[in-house]
Amino acid sequence: MALTLKIKFFTFMFIVCVDLASAMSRMLDETIVAERHRQWMVQHGRSYATQEEQTMRFQTFKNNLEFIDNFNNMGNQTYKLSVNEFADLTNEEFLTYYAGYTFYPSETSLKPKRFRYENLTNVPESIDWRKKGAVTGIKNQASCGSCWAFSAIAAVEGAVKIKTGQLLSLSEQQVVDCARTKRSHGCDGGYMDEAFNYIVRNQGIAKESKYRYTAKDGKCSGQKETFRAAQIVGYEDVPKDNEEALLKAASQQPVSVALDGAGYGFQFYSGGVFGGACRTRLNHAVTVVGYGTSEDGIKYWLVKNSWGKSWGENGYMRIKRDVHSKKGHCGIAKKPSYPLA
Ligand SMILES: *[C@@H]1O[C@H](CO)[C@@H](O)[C@H](O)[C@H]1NC(C)=O
Ligand SMILES: *[C@@H]1O[C@H](CO)[C@@H](O)[C@H](O)[C@H]1NC(C)=O
Repeated sequence: MALTLKIKFFTFMFIVCVDLASAMSRMLDETIVAERHRQWMVQHGRSYATQEEQTMRFQTFKNNLEFIDNFNNMGNQTYKLSVNEFADLTNEEFLTYYAGYTFYPSETSLKPKRFRYENLTNVPESIDWRKKGAVTGIKNQASCGSCWAFSAIAAVEGAVKIKTGQLLSLSEQQVVDCARTKRSHGCDGGYMDEAFNYIVRNQGIAKESKYRYTAKDGKCSGQKETFRAAQIVGYEDVPKDNEEALLKAASQQPVSVALDGAGYGFQFYSGGVFGGACRTRLNHAVTVVGYGTSEDGIKYWLVKNSWGKSWGENGYMRIKRDVHSKKGHCGIAKKPSYPLA
Protein backbone atom coordinates (compact mmCIF):
# COMPACT_ATOMS: atom_id res chain seq x y z
CA MET A 1 0.00 0.00 0.00
CA ALA A 2 2.67 2.42 1.09
CA LEU A 3 4.77 1.36 -1.87
CA THR A 4 2.12 1.99 -4.51
CA LEU A 5 1.40 5.36 -3.02
CA LYS A 6 5.04 6.21 -3.20
CA ILE A 7 5.28 5.17 -6.87
CA LYS A 8 2.20 7.16 -7.72
CA PHE A 9 3.63 10.12 -5.95
CA PHE A 10 6.92 9.95 -7.89
CA THR A 11 5.19 9.38 -11.19
CA PHE A 12 3.11 12.42 -10.53
CA MET A 13 6.19 14.46 -9.61
CA PHE A 14 7.97 13.25 -12.71
CA ILE A 15 5.20 14.31 -15.06
CA VAL A 16 4.88 17.68 -13.44
CA CYS A 17 8.61 18.24 -13.61
CA VAL A 18 8.84 17.34 -17.29
CA ASP A 19 5.95 19.61 -18.15
CA LEU A 20 7.41 22.38 -16.11
CA ALA A 21 10.79 21.95 -17.77
CA SER A 22 9.39 22.10 -21.29
CA ALA A 23 7.23 25.07 -20.37
CA MET A 24 10.33 26.71 -18.94
CA SER A 25 12.32 25.98 -22.08
CA ARG A 26 9.53 27.39 -24.26
CA MET A 27 9.57 30.53 -22.15
CA LEU A 28 13.34 30.68 -22.34
CA ASP A 29 13.15 30.32 -26.12
CA GLU A 30 10.75 33.24 -26.35
CA THR A 31 13.02 35.28 -24.10
CA ILE A 32 16.12 34.45 -26.13
CA VAL A 33 14.36 35.19 -29.42
CA ALA A 34 12.94 38.43 -28.00
CA GLU A 35 16.44 39.46 -26.93
CA ARG A 36 17.85 38.58 -30.35
CA HIS A 37 15.07 40.56 -32.00
CA ARG A 38 15.80 43.55 -29.73
CA GLN A 39 19.53 43.44 -30.57
CA TRP A 40 18.74 43.01 -34.25
CA MET A 41 16.43 46.08 -34.12
CA VAL A 42 19.25 48.17 -32.61
CA GLN A 43 21.77 46.86 -35.14
CA HIS A 44 19.53 47.76 -38.07
CA GLY A 45 18.01 50.91 -36.61
CA ARG A 46 14.51 49.42 -36.74
CA SER A 47 11.57 50.61 -34.65
CA TYR A 48 7.88 49.81 -34.81
CA ALA A 49 5.10 52.36 -34.49
CA THR A 50 2.63 50.26 -32.50
CA GLN A 51 2.58 47.33 -30.11
CA GLU A 52 0.58 45.39 -32.70
CA GLU A 53 3.27 45.92 -35.31
CA GLN A 54 5.93 44.92 -32.75
CA THR A 55 4.06 41.68 -32.01
CA MET A 56 3.58 40.88 -35.68
CA ARG A 57 7.20 41.65 -36.60
CA PHE A 58 8.45 39.60 -33.67
CA GLN A 59 6.46 36.61 -34.90
CA THR A 60 7.87 36.99 -38.43
CA PHE A 61 11.39 37.37 -37.03
CA LYS A 62 10.91 34.21 -34.96
CA ASN A 63 9.61 32.22 -37.95
CA ASN A 64 12.53 33.38 -40.08
CA LEU A 65 15.03 32.56 -37.33
CA GLU A 66 13.63 29.02 -37.10
CA PHE A 67 13.77 28.61 -40.87
CA ILE A 68 17.39 29.81 -41.03
CA ASP A 69 18.53 27.66 -38.07
CA ASN A 70 16.79 24.56 -39.40
CA PHE A 71 18.32 25.04 -42.82
CA ASN A 72 21.85 25.60 -41.54
CA ASN A 73 21.58 22.64 -39.15
CA MET A 74 20.54 20.33 -41.97
CA GLY A 75 24.13 20.29 -43.24
CA ASN A 76 25.07 18.93 -46.65
CA GLN A 77 24.07 22.13 -48.43
CA THR A 78 26.13 24.06 -50.93
CA TYR A 79 25.12 27.41 -49.43
CA LYS A 80 24.35 29.05 -46.08
CA LEU A 81 21.69 31.37 -44.75
CA SER A 82 22.00 34.10 -42.14
CA VAL A 83 19.86 36.54 -40.16
CA ASN A 84 20.32 39.68 -42.25
CA GLU A 85 18.58 43.06 -42.36
CA PHE A 86 15.52 41.48 -44.02
CA ALA A 87 14.79 39.18 -41.05
CA ASP A 88 11.51 40.83 -39.96
CA LEU A 89 9.88 40.54 -43.37
CA THR A 90 7.86 37.70 -44.84
CA ASN A 91 9.11 36.65 -48.25
CA GLU A 92 6.06 38.22 -49.89
CA GLU A 93 6.77 41.59 -48.27
CA PHE A 94 10.45 41.28 -49.10
CA LEU A 95 9.78 40.77 -52.80
CA THR A 96 7.33 43.67 -52.91
CA TYR A 97 9.90 46.06 -51.44
CA TYR A 98 13.22 44.82 -52.80
CA ALA A 99 12.71 43.29 -56.24
CA GLY A 100 11.10 45.08 -59.18
CA TYR A 101 11.45 43.24 -62.46
CA THR A 102 8.34 43.22 -64.61
CA PHE A 103 8.06 40.23 -66.86
CA TYR A 104 6.08 40.48 -70.08
CA PRO A 105 5.54 37.00 -71.48
CA SER A 106 4.80 38.43 -74.95
CA GLU A 107 8.38 39.70 -75.06
CA THR A 108 9.81 36.20 -75.29
CA SER A 109 8.00 35.48 -78.55
CA LEU A 110 10.04 38.12 -80.40
CA LYS A 111 12.37 36.76 -83.06
CA PRO A 112 15.98 36.54 -81.92
CA LYS A 113 18.04 39.40 -83.26
CA ARG A 114 21.76 39.59 -83.85
CA PHE A 115 23.92 38.08 -81.14
CA ARG A 116 27.47 39.22 -81.76
CA TYR A 117 29.11 36.57 -79.58
CA GLU A 118 27.41 33.69 -81.37
CA ASN A 119 30.54 32.26 -82.98
CA LEU A 120 32.92 32.88 -80.12
CA THR A 121 35.31 30.01 -79.42
CA ASN A 122 37.89 29.45 -76.68
CA VAL A 123 35.67 30.83 -73.94
CA PRO A 124 37.75 30.96 -70.72
CA GLU A 125 37.00 28.49 -67.90
CA SER A 126 36.29 31.31 -65.49
CA ILE A 127 36.14 35.07 -65.38
CA ASP A 128 35.63 37.69 -62.70
CA TRP A 129 35.00 41.17 -64.07
CA ARG A 130 35.71 42.64 -60.62
CA LYS A 131 39.35 41.59 -61.00
CA LYS A 132 39.45 43.42 -64.33
CA GLY A 133 38.25 46.60 -62.65
CA ALA A 134 34.94 46.62 -64.54
CA VAL A 135 32.59 46.46 -61.55
CA THR A 136 31.75 49.31 -59.16
CA GLY A 137 31.04 48.72 -55.45
CA ILE A 138 27.85 47.06 -54.26
CA LYS A 139 24.89 49.45 -54.23
CA ASN A 140 21.58 49.31 -52.39
CA GLN A 141 18.21 49.82 -54.09
CA ALA A 142 16.53 50.07 -50.64
CA SER A 143 12.77 49.69 -50.59
CA CYS A 144 12.12 50.73 -54.19
CA GLY A 145 11.43 48.20 -56.96
CA SER A 146 14.31 49.50 -59.07
CA CYS A 147 16.39 46.32 -59.43
CA TRP A 148 16.04 46.67 -63.21
CA ALA A 149 17.83 50.06 -63.14
CA PHE A 150 20.67 48.65 -60.98
CA SER A 151 21.00 45.60 -63.21
CA ALA A 152 21.19 47.75 -66.36
CA ILE A 153 23.56 50.34 -64.89
CA ALA A 154 26.03 47.68 -63.65
CA ALA A 155 26.13 46.25 -67.19
CA VAL A 156 26.62 49.76 -68.66
CA GLU A 157 29.41 50.52 -66.16
CA GLY A 158 31.16 47.32 -67.29
CA ALA A 159 30.73 47.99 -71.02
CA VAL A 160 31.99 51.59 -70.65
CA LYS A 161 35.05 50.47 -68.66
CA ILE A 162 35.92 47.78 -71.23
CA LYS A 163 35.56 50.28 -74.09
CA THR A 164 37.21 53.37 -72.55
CA GLY A 165 39.39 52.01 -69.75
CA GLN A 166 37.52 54.18 -67.23
CA LEU A 167 35.31 52.79 -64.50
CA LEU A 168 32.57 55.30 -63.62
CA SER A 169 29.82 54.81 -61.10
CA LEU A 170 26.67 55.77 -63.02
CA SER A 171 23.20 56.93 -62.03
CA GLU A 172 20.34 54.50 -61.37
CA GLN A 173 18.14 57.39 -60.26
CA GLN A 174 18.29 58.98 -63.70
CA VAL A 175 17.01 55.70 -65.15
CA VAL A 176 14.29 55.43 -62.48
CA ASP A 177 13.11 59.01 -63.15
CA CYS A 178 13.54 59.15 -66.92
CA ALA A 179 13.21 55.69 -68.49
CA ARG A 180 9.43 55.74 -68.18
CA THR A 181 7.43 53.80 -70.71
CA LYS A 182 4.33 51.69 -70.56
CA ARG A 183 6.52 48.86 -69.27
CA SER A 184 8.89 50.74 -66.96
CA HIS A 185 7.52 52.39 -63.86
CA GLY A 186 10.42 53.55 -61.71
CA CYS A 187 10.11 52.14 -58.20
CA ASP A 188 7.16 50.01 -59.31
CA GLY A 189 9.32 47.84 -61.52
CA GLY A 190 10.74 47.90 -65.01
CA TYR A 191 12.81 46.33 -67.63
CA MET A 192 16.57 46.51 -68.40
CA ASP A 193 16.20 46.89 -72.17
CA GLU A 194 14.05 49.98 -71.51
CA ALA A 195 16.90 51.41 -69.44
CA PHE A 196 19.38 50.78 -72.28
CA ASN A 197 16.94 52.35 -74.75
CA TYR A 198 16.66 55.47 -72.62
CA ILE A 199 20.44 55.88 -72.32
CA VAL A 200 20.82 55.55 -76.11
CA ARG A 201 18.01 58.08 -76.73
CA ASN A 202 19.35 60.53 -74.15
CA GLN A 203 22.86 60.18 -75.60
CA GLY A 204 24.29 59.45 -72.20
CA ILE A 205 23.90 58.83 -68.51
CA ALA A 206 25.11 60.85 -65.53
CA LYS A 207 27.63 59.90 -62.90
CA GLU A 208 26.14 58.60 -59.67
CA SER A 209 27.57 61.66 -57.85
CA LYS A 210 25.76 64.06 -60.19
CA TYR A 211 22.33 62.41 -60.07
CA ARG A 212 22.10 60.73 -56.70
CA TYR A 213 19.96 57.79 -55.67
CA THR A 214 16.93 58.61 -53.52
CA ALA A 215 15.02 55.29 -53.68
CA LYS A 216 11.93 57.29 -54.70
CA ASP A 217 10.32 58.20 -57.99
CA GLY A 218 11.41 61.70 -58.95
CA LYS A 219 11.07 64.22 -61.74
CA CYS A 220 13.36 63.53 -64.68
CA SER A 221 16.13 66.06 -65.18
CA GLY A 222 18.36 63.87 -67.33
CA GLN A 223 18.33 66.12 -70.41
CA LYS A 224 21.12 68.38 -69.13
CA GLU A 225 24.54 68.08 -70.75
CA THR A 226 26.18 67.39 -67.35
CA PHE A 227 24.01 64.29 -67.15
CA ARG A 228 25.80 62.61 -70.07
CA ALA A 229 29.04 61.31 -68.57
CA ALA A 230 28.99 57.95 -70.37
CA GLN A 231 27.39 56.66 -73.58
CA ILE A 232 26.14 53.45 -75.10
CA VAL A 233 25.08 52.96 -78.71
CA GLY A 234 22.62 50.09 -78.31
CA TYR A 235 22.03 46.72 -76.72
CA GLU A 236 21.50 43.10 -77.71
CA ASP A 237 19.54 40.23 -76.18
CA VAL A 238 21.29 36.93 -75.52
CA PRO A 239 19.36 34.04 -77.17
CA LYS A 240 16.97 32.87 -74.50
CA ASP A 241 17.10 29.60 -72.54
CA ASN A 242 20.69 29.01 -73.49
CA GLU A 243 23.33 28.96 -70.75
CA GLU A 244 26.06 28.44 -73.31
CA ALA A 245 25.12 31.68 -75.07
CA LEU A 246 25.04 33.43 -71.70
CA LEU A 247 28.54 32.07 -71.01
CA LYS A 248 29.83 33.50 -74.29
CA ALA A 249 28.35 36.92 -73.51
CA ALA A 250 29.56 36.92 -69.88
CA SER A 251 33.07 36.08 -71.04
CA GLN A 252 33.06 39.38 -72.97
CA GLN A 253 31.27 41.77 -70.59
CA PRO A 254 28.92 41.96 -67.57
CA VAL A 255 25.40 40.91 -68.56
CA SER A 256 22.01 41.98 -67.19
CA VAL A 257 19.81 39.04 -66.22
CA ALA A 258 16.39 38.54 -64.68
CA LEU A 259 15.66 35.69 -62.31
CA ASP A 260 13.18 34.33 -59.79
CA GLY A 261 14.35 35.66 -56.44
CA ALA A 262 11.34 34.40 -54.50
CA GLY A 263 11.81 32.16 -51.48
CA TYR A 264 13.47 32.41 -48.08
CA GLY A 265 16.64 30.77 -49.41
CA PHE A 266 17.24 33.79 -51.62
CA GLN A 267 16.16 36.32 -48.98
CA PHE A 268 18.61 35.01 -46.35
CA TYR A 269 21.40 33.69 -48.61
CA SER A 270 24.76 34.41 -47.02
CA GLY A 271 27.31 32.44 -49.01
CA GLY A 272 28.21 29.38 -51.08
CA VAL A 273 26.78 28.28 -54.42
CA PHE A 274 23.03 28.82 -54.37
CA GLY A 275 21.22 25.79 -55.71
CA GLY A 276 18.10 26.10 -53.57
CA ALA A 277 14.56 25.56 -54.69
CA CYS A 278 13.25 28.30 -56.94
CA ARG A 279 10.89 28.69 -59.84
CA THR A 280 11.51 30.58 -63.06
CA ARG A 281 8.91 33.33 -62.74
CA LEU A 282 11.15 36.32 -63.28
CA ASN A 283 10.67 38.95 -60.58
CA HIS A 284 14.14 40.29 -59.81
CA ALA A 285 17.07 41.57 -61.86
CA VAL A 286 20.81 41.36 -61.19
CA THR A 287 24.02 41.44 -63.24
CA VAL A 288 26.23 38.47 -64.13
CA VAL A 289 29.78 39.74 -63.53
CA GLY A 290 31.59 36.44 -63.94
CA TYR A 291 31.46 32.67 -63.67
CA GLY A 292 33.61 29.80 -62.49
CA THR A 293 33.75 26.50 -60.60
CA SER A 294 33.78 26.27 -56.80
CA GLU A 295 36.34 24.32 -54.76
CA ASP A 296 33.72 21.56 -54.49
CA GLY A 297 33.50 21.40 -58.27
CA ILE A 298 30.15 23.17 -58.61
CA LYS A 299 29.84 25.47 -61.60
CA TYR A 300 28.40 28.89 -60.82
CA TRP A 301 27.44 32.30 -62.16
CA LEU A 302 28.84 35.23 -60.20
CA VAL A 303 26.02 37.70 -59.70
CA LYS A 304 26.11 41.32 -58.49
CA ASN A 305 22.98 42.18 -56.50
CA SER A 306 21.67 45.55 -55.26
CA TRP A 307 20.67 44.66 -51.70
CA GLY A 308 23.70 46.17 -49.94
CA LYS A 309 26.93 44.55 -48.78
CA SER A 310 25.48 42.67 -45.82
CA TRP A 311 23.46 40.34 -48.08
CA GLY A 312 25.19 37.27 -49.53
CA GLU A 313 28.93 37.23 -50.17
CA ASN A 314 29.54 40.94 -49.56
CA GLY A 315 26.58 41.74 -51.81
CA TYR A 316 27.27 39.03 -54.40
CA MET A 317 25.76 35.59 -55.00
CA ARG A 318 27.19 32.54 -56.66
CA ILE A 319 24.33 30.68 -58.30
CA LYS A 320 24.41 27.23 -59.86
CA ARG A 321 25.40 27.13 -63.55
CA ASP A 322 24.89 24.46 -66.23
CA VAL A 323 21.79 23.00 -64.68
CA HIS A 324 19.35 20.50 -66.12
CA SER A 325 16.76 23.12 -67.10
CA LYS A 326 17.45 25.17 -70.23
CA LYS A 327 16.10 28.21 -68.45
CA GLY A 328 19.01 28.07 -66.01
CA HIS A 329 18.73 27.98 -62.22
CA CYS A 330 15.91 30.35 -61.13
CA GLY A 331 15.45 31.26 -64.82
CA ILE A 332 18.76 33.12 -65.07
CA ALA A 333 19.12 32.26 -68.79
CA LYS A 334 15.59 33.35 -69.74
CA LYS A 335 16.11 37.04 -70.45
CA PRO A 336 19.75 38.20 -70.49
CA SER A 337 20.87 41.30 -72.38
CA TYR A 338 23.88 43.59 -72.58
CA PRO A 339 24.59 47.15 -73.69
CA LEU A 340 27.00 48.13 -76.47
CA ALA A 341 29.39 50.92 -75.55
C1 LIG B 1 24.55 15.03 -49.65
O1 LIG B 1 24.04 15.44 -50.89
C2 LIG B 1 24.49 14.69 -51.96
C3 LIG B 1 24.02 15.33 -53.25
O2 LIG B 1 22.90 16.15 -53.07
C4 LIG B 1 24.00 13.26 -51.81
O3 LIG B 1 24.47 12.48 -52.90
C5 LIG B 1 24.55 12.71 -50.52
O4 LIG B 1 24.04 11.42 -50.29
C6 LIG B 1 24.15 13.60 -49.35
N1 LIG B 1 24.82 13.14 -48.16
C7 LIG B 1 24.21 13.05 -46.98
C8 LIG B 1 25.04 12.59 -45.84
O5 LIG B 1 23.03 13.32 -46.84
C1 LIG C 1 28.25 32.95 -87.18
O1 LIG C 1 28.62 32.07 -88.21
C2 LIG C 1 27.58 31.78 -89.12
C3 LIG C 1 28.06 30.73 -90.10
O2 LIG C 1 29.31 31.09 -90.63
C4 LIG C 1 27.15 33.07 -89.83
O3 LIG C 1 26.07 32.81 -90.70
C5 LIG C 1 26.72 34.08 -88.76
O4 LIG C 1 26.41 35.32 -89.38
C6 LIG C 1 27.81 34.29 -87.74
N1 LIG C 1 27.30 35.15 -86.67
C7 LIG C 1 27.86 36.30 -86.30
C8 LIG C 1 27.18 37.06 -85.21
O5 LIG C 1 28.86 36.75 -86.82
